[in-house]
Amino acid sequence: MKKLIYLAVLSTLLVACDEPSTVLNPVEETGEKLFYQPENFPQPSYDFSKNPVTDEGFELGRKLFYDGKLSRDGTISCAECHSQPYAFTHHGHSISHGIDDKIGTRNAPAIQNTAFMDLFFWDGGVFDLDFFSVAPIVNPVEMDEELGNVLEKLRATEDYPEMFKAAYGSEEITTEGFLKALSQFMNSLVSANSKYDKYVRNEAGGEFTDQEISGLSIFKTKCASCHGTDLFTDGSFRNNGLQIYVRDPDFGRAIITENAADNYKFKVPSLRNVGYTAPYMHDGQFLTLKQVIEHYASGVNDSETLDPELKKNGVLGIPLTETEKSDLIAFLATLNDPTFISNTAFAAP
Ligand code: HEC
Ligand code: HEC
Repeated sequence: MKKLIYLAVLSTLLVACDEPSTVLNPVEETGEKLFYQPENFPQPSYDFSKNPVTDEGFELGRKLFYDGKLSRDGTISCAECHSQPYAFTHHGHSISHGIDDKIGTRNAPAIQNTAFMDLFFWDGGVFDLDFFSVAPIVNPVEMDEELGNVLEKLRATEDYPEMFKAAYGSEEITTEGFLKALSQFMNSLVSANSKYDKYVRNEAGGEFTDQEISGLSIFKTKCASCHGTDLFTDGSFRNNGLQIYVRDPDFGRAIITENAADNYKFKVPSLRNVGYTAPYMHDGQFLTLKQVIEHYASGVNDSETLDPELKKNGVLGIPLTETEKSDLIAFLATLNDPTFISNTAFAAP
């Protein structure tokens, strides 16, 4: 049933764009900006029947995403920590800085392919994208504002009431309309145009070198058990053997489940656009992909909740030769999607 509704929504969207037949490479060929379903992706988890993406809703969401009014002192927009040239991450910050330059506790993840994600945050603390945006707004070290104040500020402007009317048929600025517009924008941030995508879909520009083919095959045997599917995450929470900071530990998933068996487990991140999203891991502790690979090869720490995949036959980590390491890095570069970070439809309005 859910699938049927979704298909109905999708076909409406397809009818709305110029040339449905070219939907596979929408950014390059049609300038598409709204949500679409890449052929090689799983079905979305987001229920589009409750919030279909429209041009007007997308534009409203985009304006909100780039607007400092969402923060207490007007200085911090969502884009401050989620910047498009870096696949919507906080470039140069291992741990995000927010209002009054206050330091958060975690690294800002990429915002991409959110419609295909079940749980948000490194610890999976939010399960519905439509409720998500309240979290950074009220967070004292991020935007430190109350939702009611934000809505008041928007009501006092000239353009927002009009934009709400265009999106929802009424000038009234509601919490629901506000949150759903941000979801429409984020759900439209589909990244599926990397060299890897062209390779699996047999499209022009997707010819892999021998090294990339070798990297892909190593990836499938040694990494895909966690970074699975064409989203490059299986959506699970795992402990991948990072060093545990005894003085100020981040317990990860266990903060939400209150189950010690989840200590130090974090959401397996997608590896799409990983060439743009440094630094890496929930606390941004690695600056380069080389360091990440070295971690898996020789830096994995044992603990009670370490994932069994990283302790096969009693051996810690993932054995990798020097050639395998460089092949893996070459393969990871094929996950970069240059059209995603340069699509002007996703930039500040
Ligand atoms: C001060 C920096 C900062 C600001 C401002 C900020 N974020 Fe974030 N964002 C983060 C950090 C850090 C995380 C990861 C937090 C965690 O996992 O505990 C995050 C996580 C996310 C995620 C989850 C991604 C995932 O894969 O789980 C989404 C979606 C998101 N932010 C959207 C927004 C939106 C929308 C806004 C504006 C309303 C916003 N952010 C404002 C820093 C920021
Ligand atoms: C046991 C599951 C598992 C396996 C196997 C695994 N990973 Fe990961 N990976 C994770 C988890 C969990 C994280 C996030 C950990 C954290 O931040 O605490 C992660 C993070 C990463 C990151 C950082 C991404 C970012 O945005 O910060 C990269 C890159 C990465 N892994 C690459 C690989 C590669 C390459 C392999 C194979 C050599 C691999 N992983 C094998 C679970 C796994």
